Amino acid sequence: MSTLLTVQDVHASYGRSQALHGVNLTLNEGEVLTLLGRNGMGKSTLLKCIMGLLPVRRGSIGFSGKATQKLAAFEVARLGIGYVPEGRQIFPTLNVEENLLATAANRHGVSPAFDLQRIYAFFPRLHERRSNMGNQLSGGEQQMLAIGRALMTNPRLLILDEATEGLAPLVRAEIWRVLGELRATGLAMIIVDKNLKPLLQLANQHVVLEKGHVVWSGSSQALQDNRLLVEQYLGV
Ligand SMILES: Nc1ncnc2c1ncn2[C@@H]1O[C@H](COP(=O)(O)OP(=O)(O)OP(=O)(O)O)[C@@H](O)[C@H]1O
Ligand SMILES: [Mg+2]
Repeated sequence: MSTLLTVQDVHASYGRSQALHGVNLTLNEGEVLTLLGRNGMGKSTLLKCIMGLLPVRRGSIGFSGKATQKLAAFEVARLGIGYVPEGRQIFPTLNVEENLLATAANRHGVSPAFDLQRIYAFFPRLHERRSNMGNQLSGGEQQMLAIGRALMTNPRLLILDEATEGLAPLVRAEIWRVLGELRATGLAMIIVDKNLKPLLQLANQHVVLEKGHVVWSGSSQALQDNRLLVEQYLGV
């Protein structure tokens, strides 16, 4: 299996406050990785570094064999990384369909490609709401739209920060269903979420962050077997 993403010794700061202290991880094609850790431990910061939204002070990031740590965010996205940020950031004055079409591309010849039809098949709710404006959607619909919009770029890696945060149980179940189906298509993903149970089912590999350091990484089975780790670093 070939390597898709490598994060090597990545350091990052906000002003003088250092948030990442030498993070390493590797993701292979088709794999699903979770970033775990309590609030403020550096999960979103690492995702921002991968996406070119925050400078990497030291270390390197490679995607599909290309060094990306000096690239601008739009260049990273064009290499084939779809990003669903915390807060979703959908376009409020565009309707659902316009939101989906706004970023549509297939630069790397992903096949079968994600198009409107396929996104609506994953999320029938978006089809029902296709003429509604972004700012008329519920939180769950916004999250489905944010995922749909990221998929419309036909990424080779999908990154989700707080995949189901603040959503009702039924909507969460819907999101987990779709992520499971995406995984089955061979799409690589990095997922941050507070719900360990669905993540244990979905992911191959888990990386636990504590104050900007990787303190543990391993398989779902190894994580499940390690109650102490779960209590100490995840507080659940
Ligand atoms: N824009 C910012 N300016 C200054 N400090 C920040 C900023 N964003 C995050 N930080 C700090 O960086 C550290 C890591 O934050 P980060 O957002 O990466 O945590 P997180 O693991 O994603 O937490 P959460 O689970 O709450 O989303 C925290 O100490 C946080 O206060
Ligand atoms: Mg975060």
